[in-house]
Amino acid sequence: MVLSRMNPFTPEKTRLVLVLVGLPARGKTYIGRKMARYLNWLGFAARVFNIGDYRRTRLGHHHRHDFFNPNNEEGNRLRNELATLALEDMLNWMKLGGQIGIYDATNTTILRRRQVHDRCLQHGLDVVFVESVCEDPSIIEANIRETKLTSPDYEGVEPDEAARDFRARIDHYTRAYEPIQEENYSYIKLIDVGRVMVMHQIQGYVPGKLVNFLMNMHLVRRPIWLTRHGESEFNLQGRIGGDSSLTDDGRHYARALASFVREHAIRPPIVWTSTLSRTVETARELHLPYLQWRALDEIDGGVCDSMTYEEIAERMPDEFAARQADKLNYRYPRGESYVDVTQRLEPVIQELEREREPVLVVGHQAVLRVLYAYFTDRRPEQVLHLDIPIHTVIELTPGPYAFVERRFALTLQGGPAPGTGDAMRD
Ligand code: SIN
Repeated sequence: MVLSRMNPFTPEKTRLVLVLVGLPARGKTYIGRKMARYLNWLGFAARVFNIGDYRRTRLGHHHRHDFFNPNNEEGNRLRNELATLALEDMLNWMKLGGQIGIYDATNTTILRRRQVHDRCLQHGLDVVFVESVCEDPSIIEANIRETKLTSPDYEGVEPDEAARDFRARIDHYTRAYEPIQEENYSYIKLIDVGRVMVMHQIQGYVPGKLVNFLMNMHLVRRPIWLTRHGESEFNLQGRIGGDSSLTDDGRHYARALASFVREHAIRPPIVWTSTLSRTVETARELHLPYLQWRALDEIDGGVCDSMTYEEIAERMPDEFAARQADKLNYRYPRGESYVDVTQRLEPVIQELEREREPVLVVGHQAVLRVLYAYFTDRRPEQVLHLDIPIHTVIELTPGPYAFVERRFALTLQGGPAPGTGDAMRD
């Protein structure tokens, strides 16, 4: 297995295990996957090891609550075996270059946590426990209804019966539950999805970033809309960068976008643009307040700014070839690389996560590729060729474990069919 790593700001020596803790239906899998998505997007090699998946793969889908009863000796033996198997697989994966293992299991007893902690320590790994405590019955019930009843564990089982069984499973774990308070461990405790957050012995680059990330987490379902600006003069000429204005078609798109928002928005979205004219001109048609982010400016072409690719190939063949060879890390002379863009977009991701209102981002191709990659769980090397067509709104809405995507190619009044214009230049 080859694990690719690309980022200068993801220190290679990072070797960390995040151990989830919590009763069933406390959002551990949601949190684990979310952390993995964020960390992979940042360029770390992160992976979730989920014991429930190990159980289903190895033992099948048929387990009812009795299996999880602490008095069920055979159940205990099998569950311990699976927990060890998943842990050892994670440790092996980390030996092969994995950087951040996320161990997704209940880990609700002091004994179990000690076993996991000590085993990781033997491998020289740092450990941070992430406990999710939920005292709000409505969140638990919603979680059961939304994620557990659709789990393969309850395939073909009538929903009320499945919910009853799952609650009985929770009761088994509750009897043996010892919330984390071990003095010598690093842990983050989340209570009611961020209502209260406790940090204990948290230090280091990744744990620090995760604290911020988890603090912004919420369960409000609101759309995030991503769109490129309307076609610009430079798009038409095939030039990169610059600060040109919209073409007629670009202005048609700005109006089409305003109609789209009026039709689709339950409430007016928060609008973010870059500081460049073409995004601002697109957003103005909305007649809504907008915030200009420098961080949303298009990838900086440095000395190549305002040139066509043909001109770059002719006048700077070495630069052109270097970019072709490694587009992800290639930095335009006195400009930026995709990695640089990812780094500066990290605060934008944190803000998008934190925001509870619908947000419309009017941006640029490279920048939107990087943002889109985060929401669709892509690694940095997958960012480069993501399709972000012009004159199209990409809607991303948080689902139980992943964002749900819809695309709207808008028809321009008096303009050409959607998807034309220079969609290929980046
Ligand atoms: C499971 O089998 O679904 C979870 C087991 C555990 O983490 O206790």
